[in-house]
Amino acid sequence: MAKLNRRKIVIGNWKMNFSVPESTILLSKYLKEISPENTEVVVCPAFIDIYSAEEVLSGSKIRVGAQNVHWEDVGAHTGEVSAFQLKGFAEFCIVGHSERRHEFAETDKMVAKKAAACVRHNITPIICVGETLHENMDDLTNLVVAGQTEASLSELTGKEVANIVIVYEPVWAISPGGHVCGPKKATSVIKNIRNLVKALYGEATAESVRIIYGGSVDGQNIKGFLAESEIDGFLVGGASLDHEAFAGIVKAVDGGVKSKAVEGKPNSSKTKAKK
Ligand code: PGA
Repeated sequence: MAKLNRRKIVIGNWKMNFSVPESTILLSKYLKEISPENTEVVVCPAFIDIYSAEEVLSGSKIRVGAQNVHWEDVGAHTGEVSAFQLKGFAEFCIVGHSERRHEFAETDKMVAKKAAACVRHNITPIICVGETLHENMDDLTNLVVAGQTEASLSELTGKEVANIVIVYEPVWAISPGGHVCGPKKATSVIKNIRNLVKALYGEATAESVRIIYGGSVDGQNIKGFLAESEIDGFLVGGASLDHEAFAGIVKAVDGGVKSKAVEGKPNSSKTKAKK
């Protein structure tokens, strides 16, 4: 398949970590270290941290994402947050992360509705798919991933799919205590996902959609993954909780952006509240 110049993306998934003051401090450290030239960088804090994150990062090269969303805009859904509410604060949103699929019984159908809600409100969905350890051992990886991908995309048009992010994130490779998914395996599954998107939505969509890898990515193993051109970026959990580790990954992906570039320069986003 002819390859378009898809922009690389690195996404930090903070999961259920950091109070508002803690997140603000960490983001200020991010700003000193992270100023990518070619790579899109997104941080996905917990809902409570999103408002302040958007203020701290306003005007910088780091975008804000959410970790979850409800598929309806408003209504009696205690504890939920909608894409309508996130609009203006989060430009991206993770949907169908395996921790939500497994801890909160999220189905592909829910994931599809969540992705559609994001698109409706101009938020880019980051759709996660991946098999469990048992499925992997039973050689069911491609079957499971294809099923999840097709069902999770089912409420989107080809034009919409072209602009989303799909993450291959094998459940068994997520830290802590994850097994290791090598770059070759990640590449082969990502190629299969792209072929499936081609079969479902056509070549132009398949060439455009970004398909990234997630699962224990760190400053050490990133080089191996970078050698594989099929991988359009990374979803980073544990390593995104540390500014040096996350900056190291971003720099490796971005091809050696100088960390000194923003040092010493006051960042207007730190002082200027957008709203
Ligand atoms: P990890 O998490 O990098 O800590 O394995 C990735 C994720 O679950 O998104």
